[in-house]
Amino acid sequence: MPLSLEPPYIASFVEFEQHVAKLIHKAGWIVETAKPNQPGYDLLVTKGNRVGVVQVKWLKSNVTAPQLLKFADFLDSQEGKKFHFGWFITTKGFGGPALALIRGWDKDTKIRCGIADENKLVGVDDLLDISGGGGGSTPIEPQRKVYFGVFTCKGGVGKTTVAGHLAGALALQGFNVALVDLDPEQNLQKLVGDGVFVPNPKGVGTTIEVFNGLDWHEDAARDCQIVICDCSPALERNPKELIERLDYCIIPTTLNPLGINKHGKVIQQTVKEIRQINKNAYLFVLVNNFKDLSVKRFQLLKSVYLSAYQEINKLDDKFDCIDPEEVCIRASDLLYYWGIHILENPENPTSRLAFDLIGGRCYPREDFIKLADYIETKAGIGILRTN
Ligand SMILES: Nc1ncnc2c1ncn2[C@@H]1O[C@H](COP(=O)(O)OP(=O)(O)O)[C@@H](O)[C@H]1O
Ligand SMILES: [Mg+2]
Repeated sequence: MPLSLEPPYIASFVEFEQHVAKLIHKAGWIVETAKPNQPGYDLLVTKGNRVGVVQVKWLKSNVTAPQLLKFADFLDSQEGKKFHFGWFITTKGFGGPALALIRGWDKDTKIRCGIADENKLVGVDDLLDISGGGGGSTPIEPQRKVYFGVFTCKGGVGKTTVAGHLAGALALQGFNVALVDLDPEQNLQKLVGDGVFVPNPKGVGTTIEVFNGLDWHEDAARDCQIVICDCSPALERNPKELIERLDYCIIPTTLNPLGINKHGKVIQQTVKEIRQINKNAYLFVLVNNFKDLSVKRFQLLKSVYLSAYQEINKLDDKFDCIDPEEVCIRASDLLYYWGIHILENPENPTSRLAFDLIGGRCYPREDFIKLADYIETKAGIGILRTN
């Protein structure tokens, strides 16, 4: 039975965190707020020689399994091992997969999960049985998020594929990523569900959380450093506030002869439209679905491709037509069949990326990590790398 409470009394994450801190304090714990930018937890709680950490999640929807696993990973990490336990406290409830995880945990598991209602914390199991009010905590300054858009007016060139796997590549590098699905087709939500947990054997894993464009609110993805929007192909259908906020925009295209001919104009128009709303975003044209060609044909296509955008390059110093020899997304069966699971198992689709190894290699993983690296080098997402 999913636990579910609507919390009309909570207006923001900060208020919710203070509320949770009060409830725990009332039960006799000393409560401290974690340092700003502290990864892994929000509150530190002590009673005698028992020291634990609390992850506070202010969500409009249920907690997902990746969100919980990330906290479990933290508790198992070098830093997390110092604590006796971890409490995961949220607003609304725990979804089916998260509850299945919780059920599978035993008494040695350090996580206990609960929901903060108006007067008390309600444990998903009996161990988190704290009641009361009082105490307080200092709000944490939220970090500035970096926004990516994946946009082109053309359908079927890989917007959703690129958005999802760029998120994966960034998550593998240790960022928490929010994917915002702005396309009315809502493919991202179908493919990735609530989110994906990306484990990191060397440290704390990260999550990719998926949001419907209509529900998007920064506070819902408080610990995400990166936001990636899978945009609607009709620019005017995307929320203007989001287009204005984009730091980077990826424009996927294909390198087939007819595609370049047609698409050149489309991209010029696309850039013009974006620039009317956003003058600062770095724009990257990315070749997707790249097939191995003979050298001669490749050089011909490449020169047509690069010259198609030279005009824009001259006028716009934040426009970059990525040389496919440097970075492109290769055609692969893994990406081609990514999403087949929603057809194979529509009742219970699993959330995963096309990042499996085949013979020790994985093209999509390599290509998207390269893309992330390229963007970082060219335009710098280094502001995020504080630790
Ligand atoms: N690099 C690639 N290699 C193989 N197939 C791809 C690749 N990129 C996209 N595809 C295929 O193209 C289809 C359309 O891609 P999608 O990301 O849904 O495009 P869009 O979101 O722009 O409509 C996908 O279902 C996938 O099968
Ligand atoms: Mg799509």
